[in-house]
Amino acid sequence: MANNGGRRSTEWFGATGRAGMAYRSWMRSQGFTTEVFDGRPVIGIATTWSELAPCNVHLHRVAESVKRGVWQAGGFPLEFPAMALGETLLRPTAMLYRNLLAMEAEELIRANPLDGVVLLSGCDKTTPGLLMAAASTDLPAIMVTGGPKLNGKYQGTDVGSGTAVWRWEEDLVAGRMTQEECFFAEGCMSRSDGHCMTMGTASTMASMAEALGMQLPYSATWPAPDSRRYETAQRAGQVIVDLVNSDLTPSKIMTRQAFENAIRVNAAIGGSTNAVIHLLAIAGRLGVPLSLDDFDALAADVPTLVNLQPSGKYLMEDFCYAGGLPAVMRELGGLLHGDAITVTGKTVYENVSYAPCWNRDVIHPLDKPFQPVGTGTAVLRGNLAPDGAVIKQSAASPHLLKHRGRALVFDSPEAYHAVVADPELDADENTVLVVRYCGPKGYPGMPEVSNVPLPKKLLQRGVRDMVRICDGRMSGTAYGTVVLHVTPEAAAGGPLALVRTGDWITLDVPSRALTLEVPDDELARRRAAWTAPPPAAARGWTRLYTDHVLQADTGADLDFLVGGSGHEVPRDSH
Ligand code: FES
Repeated sequence: MANNGGRRSTEWFGATGRAGMAYRSWMRSQGFTTEVFDGRPVIGIATTWSELAPCNVHLHRVAESVKRGVWQAGGFPLEFPAMALGETLLRPTAMLYRNLLAMEAEELIRANPLDGVVLLSGCDKTTPGLLMAAASTDLPAIMVTGGPKLNGKYQGTDVGSGTAVWRWEEDLVAGRMTQEECFFAEGCMSRSDGHCMTMGTASTMASMAEALGMQLPYSATWPAPDSRRYETAQRAGQVIVDLVNSDLTPSKIMTRQAFENAIRVNAAIGGSTNAVIHLLAIAGRLGVPLSLDDFDALAADVPTLVNLQPSGKYLMEDFCYAGGLPAVMRELGGLLHGDAITVTGKTVYENVSYAPCWNRDVIHPLDKPFQPVGTGTAVLRGNLAPDGAVIKQSAASPHLLKHRGRALVFDSPEAYHAVVADPELDADENTVLVVRYCGPKGYPGMPEVSNVPLPKKLLQRGVRDMVRICDGRMSGTAYGTVVLHVTPEAAAGGPLALVRTGDWITLDVPSRALTLEVPDDELARRRAAWTAPPPAAARGWTRLYTDHVLQADTGADLDFLVGGSGHEVPRDSH
């Protein structure tokens, strides 16, 4: 078989002699006709399908649609599994494994005879994990996210994944709902395939993939069961062959301009704070300079246009019918780099210039936004967070954005949960709840625990929000005045580790300040008495992770995974 395509895959399937026979013969056990080895583009379909990742459980069927498109365009599709990360089941947190997925997918893409790859994701960590892998290998790639669930329906009202859970828990604690009602309601919330249908992290990252130019227009918003999701997947199968033929690789698409577009889109959609960490990690793989402060600066003049839970009223299905992400990007107009190239081979401007909006209550116009400029993710600094912390202003209570209160400190969320129902808990609505040792090294894996529920006695008194400060993350479906990603984390010796119950803390979001009102000499004394906690594990992945994970302000990637190795395979044993 001649090496007639000059493609990467022909180094395998076009090889002569014993090696070529081995490459082809074992593949022929699947019944492929010999034309598949004629030098056509070999397209990997990385699927994060798993019954343990319920948001991704339909990706097997999505892959079939992708394959149709690849065959149509003259490619040879081969589906392969990549680590499926289900947000709800994995302990201690799916985030502990995002970098493992990224590493696994990167190695699989590089080690196999692939010319391009289609990335099938859905649940929160699967989208960034696969994008990080694609960035580090820099083979032509296109993403197809699995789409959001249909709107949840309970007692005649729409209910959103995650967001409803937080409210129902509060209602349960406050006696407004029974356990039986909750049990019934939880079934009403998840009534179709798909990922969370609020503007949580999955919807946010799907939107980020589209805003970065890495998935086809409208991909982020078609509901998972919608036939157009499958049509788009088939189209993606065609497009990846074009991408291989034109050598349009992720590094040519995910440029600094693309990241700036994504950050602005994230502000406009009221996206999850998790996008901050994931975009920083993806940029780190590409060598694109991006900093925590870019998220504040670039979003500063972008209002929130999309009225979706948890910050607003609607859900992803409504967003889809209102025009989806292209309608938002069209509305942003000159705020975006319209000439950024995308997987369509066209620019952002060309992709969205005719995208209509069908519902102005869901997607507001730029001159009449849902929330004004200055309500996006703010980056805070101060002696409590020298390397930064973030707060999602749109999910916070306006009256708490400037607040001074005494700290009530817990060294784990479990320690807090153990006393949350204590009627004697020394807390009132002005208390600042500090929950620490929840960062990348600390928990480990930086779980979404920062929005701890309010003390039961205060919920029963009608208090609905308090300032909370944590070095962990918050679910994109959650809300509240919660300062997140405090960096350096407590387990790395950050000042958060030095806070004591009773200390005064000042939060001043308009001034971007987070201040621990303790004199430097006292902090120095406390630091001298502080000892670092032991590693969370003695061996295995968790040990590797805690030894090498970077802090949140650079994306919490592993230090040795930053950057890329390309797709060349240095040696071949065959
Ligand atoms: Fe999978 Fe929310 S749990 S997207």
